[in-house]
Amino acid sequence: MTTVLITGANRGIGLEHVRQYADKGARVHACCRDPESANELKALANASGGKIVVHKFDQSRPEDAARLAGEIDEPIDILWNNAGTAGDRSNQVFGTAADTMNAVFDVNVTGPLRLSEALIGHVEKSDRKIIAMQSSQMGSIADNGSGGVYAYRASKAALNMVTRSMATDLADKGVTVVAFHPGWVQTDMGGPNAKISTEESVQGEQEVVDNLTIDRSGEFIRYSGEKLPW
Ligand SMILES: NC(=O)c1ccc[n+]([C@@H]2O[C@H](COP(=O)([O-])OP(=O)(O)OC[C@H]3O[C@@H](n4cnc5c(N)ncnc54)[C@H](OP(=O)(O)O)[C@@H]3O)[C@@H](O)[C@H]2O)c1
Repeated sequence: MTTVLITGANRGIGLEHVRQYADKGARVHACCRDPESANELKALANASGGKIVVHKFDQSRPEDAARLAGEIDEPIDILWNNAGTAGDRSNQVFGTAADTMNAVFDVNVTGPLRLSEALIGHVEKSDRKIIAMQSSQMGSIADNGSGGVYAYRASKAALNMVTRSMATDLADKGVTVVAFHPGWVQTDMGGPNAKISTEESVQGEQEVVDNLTIDRSGEFIRYSGEKLPW
């Protein structure tokens, strides 16, 4: 049986990953900041016959990563670092406060790196050995023709670099590390004008991951499977 861990599992893309993995019979460790208020996730977990386990996890709290690692006593085939924040989406060239910049980096860059470190032993012991980062095309330097959104864009570019370095450094352990662009998805973050549903995005991402081999480690991949430019 495949075991998956997903952060940001209470809504949006993360919640849909939980739903689709559970439907396929996977065991799912679903992580969110406030399990008490995560009603949709709790309903899925209650109906899963124990396959979905909900954990409390705030990506900006170092102690949460360590505690989470201690709560899980089984190999993790796929670690989905999905949780993320948009921060201040201003398109002004100047004026992004240092506090905003640092807070977005803390959640979007430091958080996934720290959780990957905390759980690397669990991933190494698994069959699949996959770490997937939920990045964004907004983090592509090659694709940036419109500027703006400084904190978010810079954080996802930094997450891409973390992905690439981890892919190199973990290759001899057989761990595959990739960055994903999920598409422009109808969630709280993507907004109502977004192009695709969470169902379509997640179906695509899971299909890519199902077929992932280590020769694609270090790639930046669109939900539909194409390799994206950095
Ligand atoms: N939607 C898009 O079009 C799009 C495009 C490209 C990339 N992405 C990326 O896809 C991922 C999921 O986005 P989404 O569209 O599903 O966004 P969303 O609906 O806004 O959900 C964001 C998720 O991240 C969680 N989160 C935020 N800060 C956190 C923290 N400090 N600790 C733990 N969890 C935290 C949220 O939890 P709370 O409910 O507790 O806030 C929520 O579960 C993000 O990394 C995003 O950057 C999305």
